Amino acid sequence: MSDGPQRFVVEPVESVGGALSVPGDKSISHRAAMLAAVARGTSRIRGFLHGEDCLATLEACRALGASIDDNGQDGLEIEGRGLDGLQPPAHALDLGNSGTALRLLAGLLATQPFDVELTGDESLCSRPMARITDPLAAMGARIHSSDGRAPLVIRGGARLNGIEYTLPVASAQVKSALLLAGLSAAGRTTVRSPAPTRDHTERMLLGMGVPVAQDDAGVVSIDGPAEPHAFELSVPGDFSSAAFFVVAACLAANDGMTIRNVGVNPTRTGLLTILREMGGEIELANLRTVGTEPVADLHVRQSRLHGIEVPPALVPLTIDEFPILFIAAAGASGQTVVRGAEELRYKESDRLAVMAEALNALGATVRELSDGLVIHGGRLAGGRVSSHGDHRVAMALAVAALLAEDAIEILDTAQVATSFPGFTAEAARAGIPIASPA
Ligand code: S3P
Repeated sequence: MSDGPQRFVVEPVESVGGALSVPGDKSISHRAAMLAAVARGTSRIRGFLHGEDCLATLEACRALGASIDDNGQDGLEIEGRGLDGLQPPAHALDLGNSGTALRLLAGLLATQPFDVELTGDESLCSRPMARITDPLAAMGARIHSSDGRAPLVIRGGARLNGIEYTLPVASAQVKSALLLAGLSAAGRTTVRSPAPTRDHTERMLLGMGVPVAQDDAGVVSIDGPAEPHAFELSVPGDFSSAAFFVVAACLAANDGMTIRNVGVNPTRTGLLTILREMGGEIELANLRTVGTEPVADLHVRQSRLHGIEVPPALVPLTIDEFPILFIAAAGASGQTVVRGAEELRYKESDRLAVMAEALNALGATVRELSDGLVIHGGRLAGGRVSSHGDHRVAMALAVAALLAEDAIEILDTAQVATSFPGFTAEAARAGIPIASPA
């Protein structure tokens, strides 16, 4: 599915800087498309991420009967069908590389009157799905997978009841899948989480007129049935995409760097807390609320980073930023220890194993733990490494050029287009030229 460049070659880079912007938030874009599809009326979404993951969600919504007018930079108009108006798709819904698309749609579709099959690429079909099929089945869904992985087959016509469910691992995808199922379930659906996770679903539902109760302990409830109303939304820049440049700037922005219009929802910005503890000089300017989300411009200066023990409580708030945090740690003085991050093994790749392999191949000293990494900072040599088809690993390794004595060649980079179309252009603007030889 991915048609981005297969290979990056990045020569050593001395310094970065400038004023950048990053594409729309992936998590918010997925949710906006899905919720607009089941709202009644026409929703307008600006800043939607036109990355392959979110385009797969849009295609799925179209196949389910939503009418979608995509005007590119000018935004999307989605005419929703209401919770009971989706149509049976003519074929299996292929969600490509996207765990968020597949898991959230499973929740949304568990209550529909028709059968549907959800599938994806090799990476997605190797990721654990019992974490959503078990609680959805407990609500009454008829949802099947052969070995706890996609493809998932949902049999239509199940009547769901709300349940109280405690997540075994902190996961916004599982929480959101259950809340979306809860929209059409009878009674109250309550989700308890061992730690706070991104709350975009809750914020968006509230913005669409659906009461979502939340308490300080992270317990979220929704009373079904409840239909969201159509909405207008501006999607902020994706903090997870900005993260590559935040770290690049901490490592080498002599004159500073600005990244404009970035979502800074506190359930996403654990990386800022960690980098500041490591000595990172990062300021949020022009803090404002756009729709239901906090947004700011990030000013970052070159900083003397030092290693720390990352508090495990920050792991869920930093969950997608570990590949680039490991690069920051490789450029910091001393040792950085990350523990309590076993979930990284179940992302688009096993991010602990893949990042340890790549950093060691580039000359770093990295020890892999069952639930984390120990990284000794210093310079990197250079060499050839593989991203194992993981977009965030590929982009993180490109930033490693700031620490390298020699060129870094990164294989298997096509998936960068899933979350950050235009990454190489933005990196070039920042001062990191990335060649993509055939
Ligand atoms: C996401 C939640 C996280 C994250 C993923 C996006 C979301 O996954 O890693 O990239 O949009 O809800 P988990 O909930 O599985 O941790």
